Amino acid sequence: MELLTNIAWVGDAETGHLRLLDQTVLPTKEKYLDCKTVQQVWDAIKRLVVRGAPAIGIAAAYGMVVGAQEPPAGSPLAAMAAEDRFQKSADYLATSRPTAVNLFWAIDRMRSLSDHLPAALLAEAQRIHEEDKQMCVAIGSHALEYFKQTVPAFTNDSISPAGVLTHCNAGALATGGIGTATAPMYTAQQQQIPLRIFADETRPLLQGSRLTAFELDAAGLDVTLICDDMAAHVMQQNKIDLIIVGADRIAANGDAANKIGTYNLAVLANYHKIPFFVAAPSSTFDLAIPDGSHIPIEERAASEITKGFGNQTAPDDIKTYSPAFDVTPHELITALITERGVITPPNTQTVATHLA
Ligand code: MRU
Repeated sequence: MELLTNIAWVGDAETGHLRLLDQTVLPTKEKYLDCKTVQQVWDAIKRLVVRGAPAIGIAAAYGMVVGAQEPPAGSPLAAMAAEDRFQKSADYLATSRPTAVNLFWAIDRMRSLSDHLPAALLAEAQRIHEEDKQMCVAIGSHALEYFKQTVPAFTNDSISPAGVLTHCNAGALATGGIGTATAPMYTAQQQQIPLRIFADETRPLLQGSRLTAFELDAAGLDVTLICDDMAAHVMQQNKIDLIIVGADRIAANGDAANKIGTYNLAVLANYHKIPFFVAAPSSTFDLAIPDGSHIPIEERAASEITKGFGNQTAPDDIKTYSPAFDVTPHELITALITERGVITPPNTQTVATHLA
C-alpha cells in the first residue's frame, strides 16, 4: 500500500524546511507546499493544508525547528535572542487552531527540551513523527482484535463483509502513519478481512469525500461515499455493523471532540444499537479538563458554508454559524481505542487507569 507523504522534512536542521502535501486541493491535484518560515507553517495549519489532530501536532513540531533557524540578515527577527525567537514562534504556532490538543501537546514537548538548537529540535520532531506512525499501527491491531471479539460481523463465521462507517478523515493523511479510525481498516486489509466501508462526505470541507474516500480507494479498500444526511438511512438498512471515528481532543471523562457531525452519528448509533468507537493516540487526551464542555470549539469562516470551493450556494450576506467540531458525550461511546488498548466503558475512572 503506497500512501502519499503528507509531512516531510527536507534538508538539514539548520537550513532545511517542512514540506506538506496540500490537502486543500486533493483529490484532483497532488501539490506540495514548502514552508520555510513559521508564518507559512501557521498559515498551512490554519488553511487545512495539513489537518487532522496528530498531523497538526507533527507539523507544528517541525515548524518549531524552522522557528529556531538563523533568520535572514536584516529581518526584524535577526535582532532577537535565539531563545526569544524560539518561544515566540511556539506561542504563535499555538494560535493556529484551537481544538486539536495534539498541537499544544507537540509544542509543549518541543519546549520541554533542554536544547532549543535546530539539530536537537529536528531530532525530537522526527521522534514525534515516528512515534505517531507506531501508535497508528498499535491502534489498528488493538481495534481489530477488539472488533473480532465483540462485533458479530467480524467473527470468523460471518459470511458477508462487515459494514463500517467513518466520518471526516482520521486516516493516513491526518497522521504520521495509517491513521487512527482507518488503522483497523488497513490492518483488516493486511489480514485479508473484507470490509465494506462507508465514508461520510463531511460538510462543509468534504474531508470524507476528498480525503477518506480518496485514500481508502487508492489503497484498494472497498469504500462507498455517502452524503452526511444519508447516514441514518444507511444504518436503518442494516448496512453498518460499527462506526469508528477519530478525535481532536478527549477530556478526562472520555467525552470526545471530533469533526462536526460526529455527535449526530453517535446519537444515531445509540438508537440503532450500533457500536460507536473513537480511535486516538494518547496525545489526543487532555486530562486537564474534566469533561467535553471545556473543549474549545473552532468556528470557521462563513464562506466555507456559503461559497465552498468557490461555488456560491447561499444568499449573499446570509447569517451563518460554523462550528468545526462537536463533542460526543462518553456515554455514547462504546470504547475509546488508543495505542495502549481499549477503554470500555469510557469514564473518568477507566480513562485515568488506562493512561496512568
Ligand atoms: O478540521 P480537520 O480536518 O482538521 O478535522 C479533522 C478531524 O476531525 C479528524 O477526525 C481528527 O482530527 C482525527 S485525525 C486522526
